[in-house]
Amino acid sequence: VSSDKAAGKGSGERFSSLGFIMSAIGSAIGLGNLWKFPYITGLYGGAAFVLIFIVCLLIVGMPVLLAEMAIGRAGRGNASSSFRNLASSGRWGFFGFIGVFGSFMITSFYSVIAGWTLHYALNSFTGKLYNGTDYNVQFETFTSGYSPLGWQFLILGLSAWVIARGVSGGIEKFNKVLIPALAVVLLILMGRAMTLPGAGEGIDFFLMPDFSKLTGESVLVALGQAFFSMSVGMGVMITYGSYVQKEQSLGRATVAVTGGNLLYAIIAGLIVFPTTFSFGLEPAQGPGLVFVVLPAAFSAMPLGAAFGGLFFVLLAIAAFTSILSLLEVPVAFAMDRWKWSRVKATAWTAAVCFIVGVPSALSVGGVLSGITIFEKNIFDSLDFVTSNVLLPVGGLVVTLFIGYKSKRAMEEAGLNGPLLKIWVFLLRVIIPPMIVLIFLYSIGVI
Ligand code: PFF
Repeated sequence: VSSDKAAGKGSGERFSSLGFIMSAIGSAIGLGNLWKFPYITGLYGGAAFVLIFIVCLLIVGMPVLLAEMAIGRAGRGNASSSFRNLASSGRWGFFGFIGVFGSFMITSFYSVIAGWTLHYALNSFTGKLYNGTDYNVQFETFTSGYSPLGWQFLILGLSAWVIARGVSGGIEKFNKVLIPALAVVLLILMGRAMTLPGAGEGIDFFLMPDFSKLTGESVLVALGQAFFSMSVGMGVMITYGSYVQKEQSLGRATVAVTGGNLLYAIIAGLIVFPTTFSFGLEPAQGPGLVFVVLPAAFSAMPLGAAFGGLFFVLLAIAAFTSILSLLEVPVAFAMDRWKWSRVKATAWTAAVCFIVGVPSALSVGGVLSGITIFEKNIFDSLDFVTSNVLLPVGGLVVTLFIGYKSKRAMEEAGLNGPLLKIWVFLLRVIIPPMIVLIFLYSIGVI
């Protein structure tokens, strides 16, 4: 209790057990599932990629997720101080800080796409999206202007408003409503997509593996996506874990979050691919898949404006609940470190995050698109560095910390018997070299 007091955590700074599950699922399910997963599945060969992704979720994503929750609840601090509290050494606190910095940076560009989804939702409901202009042209016109900044500001402002209300009065309250709402919308859209004429071809592409399409690169992309999609490596689940009550089973929470996350990714695929194929469109479109290909499909189906609007609302909600978790990491850090009130920490973090995000928003076809770093625009560079460098490094820190350094955190997970043995074996022997491999590959060393 005394360490809780020292960390300034009052009773409003605790999750209920359902609230935690919903909030952690809300963090995991996001643009990663509904925007990135379909397009990388399209690019990297369909169903065989999906299978590899599932394997990565099970042997890497799940064990690291449990490790993060355990570090958070045992350390009862933010993403950095939880390590320090457990290891009584400043060096580990520094490693943990990678997550604080990383989640801040991810929020800065993730909120750009989240903003796009709001614009698309509005334009779909009003029918403006379907005015006959080519969807590529609409996408480029929109992203090359300044209005994405307004939408990004709105998303960050709303997130700040929720976070400022606290863990139980804000984060958990909104997740408990939004996540079930998301499930309802998702099921409606899946029903619509799977009953379209010719949907079967899309389902086959998504679920019938053709292993000849697999390359080394697809395996590494799948592993990176397993991290991103499970929200691990950036201290998010450490921060959320620090608000979990002692009685709650972390093992069960891990299973629920992994299962929910996978289910939503599969359902997203069962919306996107049948729709794409049914209208004779190409799935290997890259990032524009949902903003360019899907509107074309919506425009051609009965009640398409409503279905399209619903789809983009779905994306917006999913992104919003992930941003809540990402932004909470630096907010919790600022509250502990500088003894700021929650409102002050939230206002500052969100404001600075918006400013840092401006170059990303203007670099996708906008005025800053000419600036490139290693041939990537600012947005893609940030996405690359966070997903392929910071996330794996953050994941490695967590894995080594639990595997070799903190017995206290290992026990906090509450596993025993063979499950404990398997978990520790994965953390000590299997996961670290796998992470090092993806890391070396993604920075071009191998
Ligand atoms: N898991 C979220 C998604 O799939 O969209 C994004 C995300 C949240 C990534 C939190 C990383 C993170 F730390």
